[in-house]
Amino acid sequence: MKSLRAPVVANAEVAPGIWSLWFEHPGLARACRPGHFLNLKPGPGPDPLLRRPLSVCDVERDRLRLVFRAPGRGTALLAQLRPGDELDILGPLGRPVRLPKRRTVLLCGGGVGAAPLLLLARRLRDENRVKVFLGARAAEGLILTREFSRLRLEVGFATDDGSHGHRGPVTDLVVKNVHPGTGQLVYACGPLAMLADLARRVKGAEAWGFFEERMGCGTGICYCCALPRKGGGYTRFCQEGPVVRLDEVEL
Ligand SMILES: Cc1cc2nc3c(=O)[nH]c(=O)nc-3n(C[C@H](O)[C@H](O)[C@H](O)COP(=O)(O)OP(=O)(O)OC[C@H]3O[C@@H](n4cnc5c(N)ncnc54)[C@H](O)[C@@H]3O)c2cc1C
Ligand code: FES
Repeated sequence: MKSLRAPVVANAEVAPGIWSLWFEHPGLARACRPGHFLNLKPGPGPDPLLRRPLSVCDVERDRLRLVFRAPGRGTALLAQLRPGDELDILGPLGRPVRLPKRRTVLLCGGGVGAAPLLLLARRLRDENRVKVFLGARAAEGLILTREFSRLRLEVGFATDDGSHGHRGPVTDLVVKNVHPGTGQLVYACGPLAMLADLARRVKGAEAWGFFEERMGCGTGICYCCALPRKGGGYTRFCQEGPVVRLDEVEL
């Protein structure tokens, strides 16, 4: 796969330690679907060597949006990019979500995990009933709240410290709203512990997780990203995912 070059249009910190970066690439904007991710070269030189995977958060005409936490060197370099700087991108990667029709869909985002759910919500809302649940440790960590509200969806909030919405894990809100056996779908993105909690608590419902854990090659070779599959074998979320059915893997 050839790498693509694209100019940064805007980059700003939207919550403590969380960045929103817009860039322009008409071809990618046409090709990207909910669930796709991009592998970005963090800097101009050979160090850091490995690309960093980020999900596509949103698409608007020729522009794409990434929303990311910057826990280490690679993403810190991406956070420093300014309008006019160039991104070096591999993508779109991963298998996009197969979009349902006429279903009730519950979206559950923990922290920066809300990012890929925005594009999914945008593409689902015309033909489905969509409810969104966003969680964070405290109110200032809730992201994309205005963007989800503008889509005119039901949006619920949860914070660990009770500073906004329900006090407790965001998975509590999903559990209250899920009715196994009624054809509802659940899509969740967030820390692995959140996905594991959800998998335990929504047994019987069709629930999918966006897996955003450590990745190596990103091309299916190294098994760095592999999760043990129930019944044997492994699911490489760079290949078979990143959106994987929660009841298919050991969490
Ligand atoms: C398919 C996919 C999509 C992703 N989409 C997003 C996104 O939209 N927004 C976003 O904020 N993040 C996303 N991530 C996570 C993101 O790729 C990592 O946070 C990033 O690679 C860390 O790079 P770094 O150079 O900042 O950190 P490093 O210097 O590589 O590591 C710094 C610290 O971050 C931890 N870390 C490294 N990789 C990850 C990881 N994948 N997840 C969590 N912690 C990690 C390390 O253990 C270490 O403690 C995604 C990951 C995957 C696999
Ligand atoms: S990251 Fe190498 S196989 Fe998935």
